[in-house]
Amino acid sequence: MSTLQEELVTLRSSIEKSLQDVHTSEQAEQYRVHYLGRKGLIAQLFKRLSQLSQEERPAAGEQLNALKTFAQARLEEKLTRLAPRPIEHKIDLTLPGIRPRLGTRHPLLQVLDEIKAIFTGFGFTIESGPEAEDDYHNFEALNIPADHPSRDLQDTLYLDDGYLLRTHTSPVQIRTMENSQPPMRIIAPGRCFRKDTPDATHSPMFHQVEGLCVDVGVSFADLKGAILAFAQALFGPSVKIRFRPSFFPFTEPSAEYDFSCVMCDGQGCRVCKNTGWLEISGAGMVDPAVFGFVNYDSEKYSGYAFGMGVERLAMLKYGVDDIRTFYENDVRFLSQF
Ligand code: PHE
Repeated sequence: MSTLQEELVTLRSSIEKSLQDVHTSEQAEQYRVHYLGRKGLIAQLFKRLSQLSQEERPAAGEQLNALKTFAQARLEEKLTRLAPRPIEHKIDLTLPGIRPRLGTRHPLLQVLDEIKAIFTGFGFTIESGPEAEDDYHNFEALNIPADHPSRDLQDTLYLDDGYLLRTHTSPVQIRTMENSQPPMRIIAPGRCFRKDTPDATHSPMFHQVEGLCVDVGVSFADLKGAILAFAQALFGPSVKIRFRPSFFPFTEPSAEYDFSCVMCDGQGCRVCKNTGWLEISGAGMVDPAVFGFVNYDSEKYSGYAFGMGVERLAMLKYGVDDIRTFYENDVRFLSQF
């Protein structure tokens, strides 16, 4: 029988050799059982340590342990190399890339841009005012009396300390007149807030564009001319306008104005409820009482003012039938504009 020494050397080289033939995890397992298993070749050698003399035993034991560690280390090395390859090898660089989706300008802003461009083309300048407004500018200086229904808690969102969320853009009329002298032609686009329950035509937050023109000799005919020119610039030359008597505390006389229906060309359809007309907003000649609040001489100056709802115009322009779709940010809706 060969010495344990000799067998250790043979075993080591046989381990090296047989590892070269290990290519699958099954083969690795066979290797493990053959050399490192409970009845494997290394275990058998350990059994033979008892046949050695007291002096020989420690050194031989150490060599055997070293061989076992070696066999285990090589097996582990092999197993990591057999592990599945990382996916980078599966990337096909010749495939076309994923195009990022480009956003578009929100339809409300597109209409707003168009409205601004039309009025600046008429010589109007653009003004703005705060969304958190005070009672004086939103109501009082607009000649809206203390007991007026629009001041009701049911309609207006009040903040602390006499502030509120403006219910219309008309306070910008007051702020502009406070800060400058006629002649002036301005529009004031902006957000407004009212305590409305959302439905297809109402939203507690919406946009208006205010218009104001003050000069010597401004008449209602100028107001009609400006509204007609605007309507035709936005919806085309066949649009007609009409004014109906109305009331606003800050204009006298006051009117509501309509556009002939842009859906059916005034023939009568679902959108105009078969009237041929679409209500747009209110307008009128600036009330002399309002000029009093901003210290303008109402004997010398006159002016007109108008409002308009941006959502309403955008719905007509794009054929949108529910105002809420403007605020939901559903890309399927937004990507159509
Ligand atoms: N501020 C009014 C509203 O919100 C509209 C309006 C503006 C009417 C200017 C007359 C003049 O309904």
